Amino acid sequence: MNQTTTLLRDADLARAFDRASGTYDRLTGLNAGYRADLRRSARRLRLPAGGAGLHLLDAGCGTGASTAALLRAAPYARITAVDASAGMLRRAAAKPWPAGVRFVHAPVERLADAGVTGPFDAVFAGYLFRNVSDPDAVLAAVRALLREGGRLAVHDYSLSGSPVHRALWSAVCRAVVVPAGTLTGNRGLYRHLHGSVRAFDTAPRFAERMAAAGFTGVRVLPVPGWQTGIVHTFLASRPAPAPKGATA
Ligand SMILES: C[S@@+](CC[C@H](N)C(=O)[O-])C[C@H]1O[C@@H](n2cnc3c(N)ncnc32)[C@H](O)[C@@H]1O
Repeated sequence: MNQTTTLLRDADLARAFDRASGTYDRLTGLNAGYRADLRRSARRLRLPAGGAGLHLLDAGCGTGASTAALLRAAPYARITAVDASAGMLRRAAAKPWPAGVRFVHAPVERLADAGVTGPFDAVFAGYLFRNVSDPDAVLAAVRALLREGGRLAVHDYSLSGSPVHRALWSAVCRAVVVPAGTLTGNRGLYRHLHGSVRAFDTAPRFAERMAAAGFTGVRVLPVPGWQTGIVHTFLASRPAPAPKGATA
């Protein structure tokens, strides 16, 4: 597959998600692990006391599957969920949510223009980073939005680096993902899904990228099932200030 012709970025990507928003929940519902794995990654943030008193950011919330996962992990938290696609966001906002959840239409790199400045106690990014044209810029933006000591969980398709997992991903796309996307009239977006996973960082490379962006305690965890080696949770923190009196 020629990846340069299948990858969508920025405004083209937002338009493709706008178009796909009506069938997105149905298609992701066909993947038994989609919502359960998001919930697992959100739980891995280990937010205390059900999130009471915390303000969380769901970056790239789409139709709200990651927002629901975050809410399950932290039912008492305040959640700001943002997305660059108006169509996806409309679907998310139309669902029933508790009063502490709000939705904002903006790219995560330009949240300040929408009046959102943080700081957030934690950020969750489900299937976002593989889609952005400049992951370093988005990591820098997320780091700036976090309070010191705040946590980041990234949940995404990021291949292990093993040829077996790369081949398995292409086989699943050819047999299931692209045909299902074509049936619902969104062939371009689902070819993008195939190509963007192949083009994205391997899990070890993305972990290095997080560390280079100034995050500490970076950890990479697998998910169970057929997506082992294909989907990972990445955990990290914005460094906390050194305790008073500590020497460098
Ligand atoms: C694959 S969907 C995932 C949605 C949701 N997090 C989930 O887990 O179902 C990726 C979402 O990221 C959004 N997105 C892509 N680039 C973005 C950016 N720079 N800022 C905010 N949202 C972005 C897209 O519009 C899309 O809704």
